[in-house]
Amino acid sequence: MIVTIDGPAGAGKSTVARALAQRLGFAYLDTGAMYRAVALAALQRGVDWTQPDALAQLARQIQIEFQNDRVLLDGADVTEAIRDWKITQITPYVADNVEVRKRLIELQHRFCQGRNIVTEGRDQGTLVFPEAECKIFLTASAEERARRRLAELQARGESATLEEVLAAQQRRDQEDASRPFGRLTRAPDAVEAPTDGLSITEVVDRLADLVRRRQQEMVRSSCPCCPPESSHADINHGNTSKI
Ligand code: DC
Repeated sequence: MIVTIDGPAGAGKSTVARALAQRLGFAYLDTGAMYRAVALAALQRGVDWTQPDALAQLARQIQIEFQNDRVLLDGADVTEAIRDWKITQITPYVADNVEVRKRLIELQHRFCQGRNIVTEGRDQGTLVFPEAECKIFLTASAEERARRRLAELQARGESATLEEVLAAQQRRDQEDASRPFGRLTRAPDAVEAPTDGLSITEVVDRLADLVRRRQQEMVRSSCPCCPPESSHADINHGNTSKI
């Protein structure tokens, strides 16, 4: 079963997706880490990330792997290095590159094939896994997302004001929404999960319930003696679906 979690920066996707996967006993894929790993490779190898062809060639040469929550780039652990501020600045060039996206989507398909998995990013429920059995669109208000980001920066000893974080976030939202290929948008059959005022445990509880209901529906719909599930539409279909 594939569970997709998409949403804007700072909505809590990584934390929630990782915890949800752990709760369900599913694998977990952080696709943002893949885009960041390409950006780091460009920086390390002196590849000009503003040159689309050079970046696309680089994406075909490097090896990105996940091992027990660690991200490996050509065998080296880059889990912390890809979170660097400089990498966050370069990554939009990577994410806007159609050839790079195609390559990473190929790797995402390969990684998820035949697995029970929670995969998170911007385009997982729309472009990458349009047939996913359970799709979640995780949101939070702009202020809440900026507050979380500021707390994260402060915990790492970096200093910034809420206004600076809000302005940077607005730019990222704009970039994510305007990308011609793989832009952030809610799949029509995704359940919206607003997280303002909820703890991580509360969000994960709700999402785990949702996934389990979907699993039960899948069993029922493949069972020749069970009647069709009438509440299906309330759970994962229609534009107004929310957890
Ligand atoms: O979620 P994140 O901040 O680690 O994502 C890093 C960058 O990669 C960000 O600019 C959005 C982009 N991204 C994307 O375009 N598609 C994805 N599936 C995941 C991330």
